[in-house]
Amino acid sequence: MNIAVLGYGTVGSGVVEIINTKHDVILGRNSKEDLNVKYILDRRDFPGDPNEDKVVHDFNTILEDDSVKIVAEAMGGVHPAYDFTAAALAAGKHVVTSNKELVSKKGSELLAIAKEHNVNYMFEASVGGGIPVLRPISFDLAGNNIQKVNGILNGTTNFILSKMIFENLTFEQALIIAQDNGYAEKDPTADVEGIDAVRKISILNNLSFGFGVDPEQIHTEGITHITLEDVAYAANYDCVIKLLGTAELLPDGKVYILVSPALVHNTSMLAKVDDVLNAVLIHGDNVGDVMFYGPGAGKLPTASAVVGDIVDCANHKDERRELNWGALNMDRVADYREIPNKYYIRLKVTDTENVQHEVRSAFGNIYLLARSGAYNEELAFITDSLTENDVRARLDSLNSVVVKSMIRVATC
Ligand code: HSE
Repeated sequence: MNIAVLGYGTVGSGVVEIINTKHDVILGRNSKEDLNVKYILDRRDFPGDPNEDKVVHDFNTILEDDSVKIVAEAMGGVHPAYDFTAAALAAGKHVVTSNKELVSKKGSELLAIAKEHNVNYMFEASVGGGIPVLRPISFDLAGNNIQKVNGILNGTTNFILSKMIFENLTFEQALIIAQDNGYAEKDPTADVEGIDAVRKISILNNLSFGFGVDPEQIHTEGITHITLEDVAYAANYDCVIKLLGTAELLPDGKVYILVSPALVHNTSMLAKVDDVLNAVLIHGDNVGDVMFYGPGAGKLPTASAVVGDIVDCANHKDERRELNWGALNMDRVADYREIPNKYYIRLKVTDTENVQHEVRSAFGNIYLLARSGAYNEELAFITDSLTENDVRARLDSLNSVVVKSMIRVATC
């Protein structure tokens, strides 16, 4: 079966490499079809590359070739990836992708086109890189109401936080190492501000709960404001700071969905996910907690997931693999500021003794934190479970304090 790969960058070249080098393994293990990369679409030429004769510059060459049954889109971005994907689906070709931005923003439209033309649009590689998680949610966990999804969904930020936790490096120092290792881009905004993670939690939300949430309207906090003081205070509470994507179904049918740093207790499976690794912890009403863990990025891990989708399409070439994917419904998004949570608070204060009294009378029960080398002018504590609006109002009532940090304590 002929395949076209759109984009010969990190992921696209990995897909070609796996299909070319693992051809017999794929056929021997589970593919009913012999897979063959017929075209690679890229703006560039690749002189000397073993696949240079497959490179084309005009998408119509692929679109008009009826022998191409599956298109693997690894271009990234919304345009022209959306246009090529829509055209390929409308031409009766299956499309698989690693493009989380496109799936999170245009998944509903593309799945509707796929349905109309009786083909599949699959995107396992868009969340958790090489970790199989979307197919298990869609098929293996079908006997469950999924109640909660928590994930460490971004390798770059997990690497930076791990460097802060284990090597006492500042955010800025750790970011430089992440860039030197090729994890973080020169412009690291999408990773460190949580934009990459929020695309992934919106995809997980849709497949888990059957409705869409615009990733641009999900509350998103990154990790740029996390300091070594916060890391030390978290350790004093037996926690590590992680960037978490959360989507939790509430009793009223709404979803508590956000991306934010959180204190994760050391007993949680997510606390043990370090460096560039990702993990998705899912709670189903029958299965309980299951965690999917592994490499969330990188050439061959991500390509491994793309090839899995290619094989699935090839094996179901005349059938649709129905996904529990629904239309956008922002009415089902709860106000995250009204969901109770414990908070870690770090204040800069002028008079520690008096402020402690004030804080106790404003917050009632608090758990005071300590760290070695703490300044006299700082006070850090954990609140009871309160809404963000409530915490902010209580903080506003305090005199002469500056709020330096306010981070959720995770319940996973
Ligand atoms: N920049 C992403 C990460 C790559 O660091 O996880 C995969 O989306």
